[in-house]
Amino acid sequence: MEKYLIKGGNKLHGEVTISGAKNAAVAILPAVVLSDEPCIIENVPNISDIDFIIKILLAMGAEVTMLNRSTLRIDPRRIHTPVVEYDLAKNLRASYYFLGALLGKIGSARVSMPGGCDLGARPVDQHLKGFNSLGAECAVEHGMIRVSAEHLVGAHIYFDGVTVGATINVMLAAVKADGLTVIENAAKEPHVVDLANFLNSMGADIMGAGTDVIKIRGVKSLHGTQYSIIPDQIEAGTFMVAAAATGGDLLIKNVIPKHLESITVKLQKIGVYIEEYDDSIRVVGGGHLEKTNVKTMPHPGFPTDMQPQITTLLTLAEGTSIVTEGVWDNRFKYVNELRRMGADISVDGKVAVVEGVGHLMGAPVKATDLRAGAALIIAGLCASGTTEIEDIHHIERGYEDIEKKLRSVGADIRKVGIPDTMLAQAL
Ligand code: EPU
Repeated sequence: MEKYLIKGGNKLHGEVTISGAKNAAVAILPAVVLSDEPCIIENVPNISDIDFIIKILLAMGAEVTMLNRSTLRIDPRRIHTPVVEYDLAKNLRASYYFLGALLGKIGSARVSMPGGCDLGARPVDQHLKGFNSLGAECAVEHGMIRVSAEHLVGAHIYFDGVTVGATINVMLAAVKADGLTVIENAAKEPHVVDLANFLNSMGADIMGAGTDVIKIRGVKSLHGTQYSIIPDQIEAGTFMVAAAATGGDLLIKNVIPKHLESITVKLQKIGVYIEEYDDSIRVVGGGHLEKTNVKTMPHPGFPTDMQPQITTLLTLAEGTSIVTEGVWDNRFKYVNELRRMGADISVDGKVAVVEGVGHLMGAPVKATDLRAGAALIIAGLCASGTTEIEDIHHIERGYEDIEKKLRSVGADIRKVGIPDTMLAQAL
């Protein structure tokens, strides 16, 4: 079992470079299945979620070659098995993007019900509704989602609520359908736009990504492309909060400041100084931190994936802050862990009341999911004494080399113990 050991108190200083966006990469890699030729994908983050996507591609018969640390060549021409079994699907949510991609490419797929962070109910009804509208038959049998269609035909689809996953899955299925598909109430997240740009670079005809209405005109075939994934909005936001919480001065490079606006505005409100450049952002903490209220919402609102991190910062601010989770039913599980470190937070349903306590104390804690783990790292960095974080495999799903990056800007963080994978083999 591996753990992070953090000795708190060091201010983060210097420069850190953000990796490619996890939630874009986990959609773009499955999308390569739609191409008739090999594709080269750059700025792929080196995280365990991507390792699982690569394993799925290989199991299906695709060829995947690593050209360098962040560049993959994927040749989908020999895909022979349109199936994602439980052992691979259980590891991440995005395994269900193979449903849309394979449906679009060969008209059928079987994918085990996906895994991913436990954030409350994570239904797939909107995905299936979208596939159905395009003319596919869908069924859930023995834990497998099965989709098939003789012929996909463009349709008008109105999602009941804003959903990133269903927007992406329907885009994947519709790019080669006959005629026009219109998705209304579409998700507008940067990774939705990045996927649309990627598909267009392969010859798709998608307009409106980044707005509520996405229009997809089906094309007969898609060709190979070379494409660079956008920087990770949430990794950047996490480093922004870490700099603020430790009272540091950090230049965060390889970012798109526009994608960070909702985070920047909140941090400024709390009292953090921020300078924006073309593709980097400087965050200077150390001043007085003020309470504020945060409500998470779909993009361009404040991202739910930054909720645990900003809540952690608010424990250091003066006064009472209210944090409302507007996307997931159960995203406050980490609060119990923060309480072990001295935080004063009460939770009622989707609302957390955070009483600023000024400072946190190191303690043994457990990462309950990916962003919860990021929040605990931030807590450990600014707490007095030592924090020990267990279950770090959650964190490694989505943050490339987080402990190395943090060490390079002055944090005292080490990974110790036996890797979970070796432990599993030994048992
Ligand atoms: N929903 C439905 N029916 C559906 C699909 C979604 O009711 O068929 C509901 C969900 O229950 C939720 C809301 O719609 O209440 C939003 O879910 P969405 O589909 O947008 O989430 P997702 O696609 O499963 C992605 C990210 C999450 C991120 C959310 C919201 C990926 C792989 N995951 O999840 O990222 O929290 O969008 O922005 O892109 C993370 O990176 O830590 C993470 C959890």
